[in-house]
Amino acid sequence: MTKIEITGGVPLQGEVWISGAKNAVLPILVGSLLGDAPSRISNVPHLQDVTTTMELLGRMGAELSMHDSMQIEIDPRGMNHYEAPYDLVKTMRASILVLGPLVARYGRARVSLPGGCAIGSRPVDLHLHGLQALGAKVEVRNGNIEARADRLKGARVIMETVTVTGTENILMAATLAQGTTIIENAAQEPEVVDLANFLISMGARIEGAGSNTITVEGVDNMHGTDYSVLPDRIETGTYLVGCAMTGGNVRCTHTSPGHLDAVLDKLSEAGAEISIGEDWIEMDMRGRRPRSVDITTAPYPAFPTDMQAQFTALNSIADGTGVITETVFENRFMHVQELQRLGADIRLKGNTAIVQGVSRLTGAPIMATDLRASASLVLAGLVADGVTTVDRVYHIDRGYENIEEKLSALGARIRRTDSAAG
Ligand code: EPU
Repeated sequence: MTKIEITGGVPLQGEVWISGAKNAVLPILVGSLLGDAPSRISNVPHLQDVTTTMELLGRMGAELSMHDSMQIEIDPRGMNHYEAPYDLVKTMRASILVLGPLVARYGRARVSLPGGCAIGSRPVDLHLHGLQALGAKVEVRNGNIEARADRLKGARVIMETVTVTGTENILMAATLAQGTTIIENAAQEPEVVDLANFLISMGARIEGAGSNTITVEGVDNMHGTDYSVLPDRIETGTYLVGCAMTGGNVRCTHTSPGHLDAVLDKLSEAGAEISIGEDWIEMDMRGRRPRSVDITTAPYPAFPTDMQAQFTALNSIADGTGVITETVFENRFMHVQELQRLGADIRLKGNTAIVQGVSRLTGAPIMATDLRASASLVLAGLVADGVTTVDRVYHIDRGYENIEEKLSALGARIRRTDSAAG
């Protein structure tokens, strides 16, 4: 069983190159199915979720080739199978993103209904209502979502809750619908904007991405394109929290500072000195212990739920008491019990974690439960006395490219181990 072993106590120092954004590249790879010709996507991160997406598209008949280490070409012309089966959907919920493009471009889709998940129930009802509003016939049968349509028709789609992949699914479906679609209460995340820009480069007509109302003027067909994926704001934030926790000095390069306002505000409040340029962020803690910060997660541009676990880890060793309120997912505190194994003082009350900072954590074997939880455990290991071993690291490989190499380059004592005994 592969584990990550960390010996804590070294301040992070140096430069780290930020990879392309996981939550942008997944919808973009899938969105390429809408075209009549191949698309080339660059700045693609090496992640398990990207491999899963490639397998999914390949099984449907798309031809995929890797051009250099960070570019993938997708040729959708051989598409002949319009299904996302359970064995892939259960490992990656984002597989649901094929629903919109398949129905819009190929008139039908069968996608296994995602089940529960470690961070909450995560229903997909709004994806289905949106597609129905565009005229698709949608049924759930034998654990599968089955959707059909001759040609989708533009409509007004009001999202009851802000949903990132829900907005992306309807956005992709609307590009080839007949007439105008207006998506209200749309997600404003930078990854939604990146997908919209990608679709526009394929010939889609989209306005308002990045605001809460997106208007799509359907077109008859779309072509291939060349597109570079935006940098990962959550990966950036994760390394910056590591810097804050260890009292270090880190420069993140090839990133997009403008997408991290809420996170950078909280890091400044925690005592970090931050300078930014067009595509870099430098943070210096000058060896100081961070101060506790209160966090409330909410859709963009508010504080991201995908940074909540990392800030829980930061508050664990900060000076003071920090209150963390999770409003996006109902069960996203699985990291708390593991942090407690390292000596963190955290009380959970419903969707709130009250974290009383302790002056030191002590290394222990701990278990990753989901992607961002596992990142928070690695960060805690960087400051814990002695050795911390994180089990089930496949969670972290879904969303962090070469995390132990990047952290080693910043001076951390971290390595991957393989033991037959699990
Ligand atoms: N929701 C519904 N009905 C729906 C869809 C969503 O009730 O049909 C609810 C969810 O249960 C949740 C809230 O709406 O309470 C928001 O969920 P959302 O749909 O926005 O989440 P998502 O699209 O499934 C994406 C990211 C997540 C990220 C969330 C929130 C991708 C592939 N995933 O998920 O990323 O946490 O948005 O920002 O884009 C991660 O990277 O670790 C991760 C989990």
